[in-house]
Amino acid sequence: MALETFGPAGPLAGEVRVPGDKSISHRALILAALADGPSRVDGLATGADVGSTITCLERLGVRVSQGVVRPPRGGLRPPDGPLEAGNSGTTMRLLAGVLAGQPFRSTLDGDASLRRRPMARVAHPLRRMGAEVAARPADGGDGETAPLQIRGPLPPGPLTARVHRLPVASAQVKTCLLLAGLHAAGRTTVIEPFPSRDHTERLLRVFGVVVADGGGFLCGGVSPGAEADPAGWVVSVESDGRPLLHPVELAVPGDFSSAAFWIVAGLLVPGSALRLAGVGVNPTRTGLLAVLARMGAARAVALEALPEAVAAVAGEPVADIVVRGLEPAWARRGSVPGVLRATLVPAAEVPSLIDEVPILAVAATQAEGVTVIEGAGELRAKETDRLEALAGELGRMGAHIEAGPDRLVITGPTRLHPARVSARGDHRMAMALAVAGLLTRPVDGRQTEVAGFETAGVSYPGFRRTLEELAS
Ligand code: S3P
Repeated sequence: MALETFGPAGPLAGEVRVPGDKSISHRALILAALADGPSRVDGLATGADVGSTITCLERLGVRVSQGVVRPPRGGLRPPDGPLEAGNSGTTMRLLAGVLAGQPFRSTLDGDASLRRRPMARVAHPLRRMGAEVAARPADGGDGETAPLQIRGPLPPGPLTARVHRLPVASAQVKTCLLLAGLHAAGRTTVIEPFPSRDHTERLLRVFGVVVADGGGFLCGGVSPGAEADPAGWVVSVESDGRPLLHPVELAVPGDFSSAAFWIVAGLLVPGSALRLAGVGVNPTRTGLLAVLARMGAARAVALEALPEAVAAVAGEPVADIVVRGLEPAWARRGSVPGVLRATLVPAAEVPSLIDEVPILAVAATQAEGVTVIEGAGELRAKETDRLEALAGELGRMGAHIEAGPDRLVITGPTRLHPARVSARGDHRMAMALAVAGLLTRPVDGRQTEVAGFETAGVSYPGFRRTLEELAS
């Protein structure tokens, strides 16, 4: 396990092009694999997670080379062994939806972290649609986990279209069920308590599929007598049981969740000036910007919209994000920068910043007052238990941070100190701790040591090198 060190930094300056959006890359590859001809996808994410999706698709007969995705003639082929999703929950849950509609059995497996993550949330609804799904009982509970064995209905035929009401907003589960819906006869509907990222809806339209979505009582989204009260965020697709997707050419925008680390680092390392080029700014993903604006950073982060020809990629809005370091207010309570103000992040806002909670927690350690992030229980089911990990690891650096069952409470500002911390096998923990290391008080030349930093490569293989370039 690699130990990497991060110390107090001088201003960060320059332009960054972050990797392609991971969520959009998974979806673009999977939808292209279902299309009736080869598609071209530029700017795919380079991290290990999207690599897992490519490897799984290749085992199903899809050819992927230099951004060109060639589906096999006559549909996906039975794999000759287990499909390995590695660390990637998105690979596993999205492919589960596709495999549920295939007339052959496949096995989806993952690494030790993924084998601990909850899969009943996809297994149950896929069974309701007529798929056969076998899972491993979760240790010490009534949940289900990987490996998953999945096959379509017997005798072979379309899945049954259903209305699914999700107890928790989840784009992975929503997408799994919409992908299964493409293999179901009739209208498949998913209702969420809050809107989750809508990349699938946007991309399905790019591939020529009609998608109905909206909040509250959706126009025709839920038929009369449906099993669920229609209030909520509703999305539906209609099919005759065979996916009908046209090949496309598209470009994946930069990943906002990767840009988020530079946004917070740029704000909190005094004197910084960063331009993050070509980042996806889909409003279902950019909740962090609204929260930072409330915390007092509104004038230090600006979006510069790109010309439409550049921005019209993957049906997603794209912009350059320009960040200026906040003035350090080394005043009032000792030598503590107190420019940011604490805020309350309510549960409804959490889906729009679900992957940014680790870096938001780092920002909150530098904010004056008590920041509370509510309704964040889902963080316990990510690559690691992020609530526990943040409280434990940032706590070692002197942060005042408490994890409740589904909330984080962070009291600031705190001048962090160097410490030995662990990424706990979680890419976003690794990068959040690296940024925290930049903010530490110099103590005898000591640096923050992040054990297992190499896991950052799951989403951002070049993170360390970019940091060095920006700091030089
Ligand atoms: C993702 C959805 C989110 C997010 C994950 C990627 C996606 O998970 O945390 O990193 O691409 O759909 P949930 O949908 O389970 O909240």
